[in-house]
Amino acid sequence: MDILGISCYYHDAAAVLLRDGQLIAAAEEERFSRIKHDYGFPKNAIKYCLEAGGTTGPDLDYVVFFEKPFRKLDRILATVLQTYPQSWKVFRESMISWVLDKLWVASTLETELGIKKDKVLFSEHHLSHAASAYLCSPFDESAILTVDGVGEWVTATYGIGKGNDIRLFKQMDFPHSIGLLYSAFTAFLGFEVNEGEYKVMGMAPYGEPRYVDKVWKLVHQNADGSFSLDMDYFSFHHSTEKTYSKKFEQLFGAPRPTKLHFFTEGTGFPKYFGEPPANIHEISKINQHYADIAASIQRVTEELILGMARNLHKETGLKNLCIAGGVGLNSVANTRIMRETAFEQVFVQPAAGDGGGALGAALWAYNTLLGKPRNFRMDHAYWGRSYGASEITTFLQSNKIPYHLIENEDQMLDQVVERLMGGKVIGWYQGRFEWGPRALGHRSIIADPRNPDMKDIVNSKIKFREPYRPFAPSVLAESAEKYFELPRATSHYPARYMLYVVPVKPEAQSTLPAITHVDGTGRLQTVFKDQSPRYYKLIERFGQATGVPVILNTSFNLRGEPIVTTPANAFNTFIKSEMDSLVLDNYLIEKSSLN
Ligand SMILES: [Fe+2]
Repeated sequence: MDILGISCYYHDAAAVLLRDGQLIAAAEEERFSRIKHDYGFPKNAIKYCLEAGGTTGPDLDYVVFFEKPFRKLDRILATVLQTYPQSWKVFRESMISWVLDKLWVASTLETELGIKKDKVLFSEHHLSHAASAYLCSPFDESAILTVDGVGEWVTATYGIGKGNDIRLFKQMDFPHSIGLLYSAFTAFLGFEVNEGEYKVMGMAPYGEPRYVDKVWKLVHQNADGSFSLDMDYFSFHHSTEKTYSKKFEQLFGAPRPTKLHFFTEGTGFPKYFGEPPANIHEISKINQHYADIAASIQRVTEELILGMARNLHKETGLKNLCIAGGVGLNSVANTRIMRETAFEQVFVQPAAGDGGGALGAALWAYNTLLGKPRNFRMDHAYWGRSYGASEITTFLQSNKIPYHLIENEDQMLDQVVERLMGGKVIGWYQGRFEWGPRALGHRSIIADPRNPDMKDIVNSKIKFREPYRPFAPSVLAESAEKYFELPRATSHYPARYMLYVVPVKPEAQSTLPAITHVDGTGRLQTVFKDQSPRYYKLIERFGQATGVPVILNTSFNLRGEPIVTTPANAFNTFIKSEMDSLVLDNYLIEKSSLN
């Protein structure tokens, strides 16, 4: 039985193909369209999924959409009518886009896929999130927490998964939303909503949470973990342009201007920002205020999520927890749940944002709606398209790009290790691309984590990004405990997906300066031999040569662009940056040999 899951029209569009309950393919549309967070109809991702399964639209048994369009329209109408006339603009824009696209999902699917409307099913937004975590988790029974911006009406749920059944038993409703609270601060701190949340998380360790009391004026948490926002501080419910209100600005001061470099005394002023301004100390001081605000909202968010998780544990008494929804990408909060609640095991869907809803919708239809037994556990995230040797050679030869073909894997790995040890930065591209927002060694830029200058080198020559954003370490799963404070490291699923941030052991911090964040932590990826043998072997060989089986891993993209997908994307990114070498599966390309 073939089921296609689809999410689109809100945040990240994606498609997945499930065959007899097993995942065949999954991809977010942005990887193909090259539009970051593309939310349009995912026609390229669908095409890929159907090709991967060797099937066509009319042959599908079901297509499942990740939410209920009418219910969502209902929420928008109700919200805008409540706050009319401020909300007139939202109303007009919403109506145009709803009438044009969203209400006609079933018709669109019928036209695009050639599938009959009676084969189109609709899940619900948070049910899709819940299913995307629980149904592919290793647990037979688990509590489920979903937290995001907003789905149809719902912004967070508590649930229980048992066998192939899911029951969501408590929900929090719009406008009371942790996701939207965090987004308001993201915008206030001068970053783009739904994109800059990582930057706020990265800034937080450079600040002191001295405004926690002020943030608590905006949000109240009840004894059962549910929460409510004081809407006087926000405007996302009646504006498409602003998420926070005048009152918010009275409390926190003027917002940080967008497009200005962010730096403090702690981050320093990196060379690649250009000449330091004359009043650098004054600006650093002003920025420190914003870093303190970032630390404060991060702290309150963690407390809110912890409050929910603790109550969920109390109400269910279960030892396992599954997490999904955009807030599930807050790795610091995930780690605190693992450490500070009574849950013993945690699973987080790697595509915790709305893209993952496509997977959840398909799993929900197969396991819960149709009652079929669960037979898929998500052990890795390599579900995207791969590009074979003939596609790579065709690209290289037709563009007259000089390359070395090294079919012997050991020889290739030796070449790469040698370059890493020589301080080179390498584009590492292999096999199928990753599902979710993190690069996990199949579309990664890699470097030597032992080199104290490497953070600046990668930031300035390759990523062109903010100096305070940390780089992640990929470590052999069996060696992780030697370097990181993560007992039983191999048992933690979120660490496979870079969804935990844990302290780097004090004695390892000086060994791993390029991946140790300012607060002594690292967002590690544990790498398993079974799941990514070639990447595992590379790290293993690097470990044999240096004594340290850890590699600096950052996503293979330029700032603001989606992670690379095709060999051509990879090569273009390689050319535009100052990476030294590029590995496309068995092909090695040297910057020095290009003219
Ligand atoms: Fe969502």
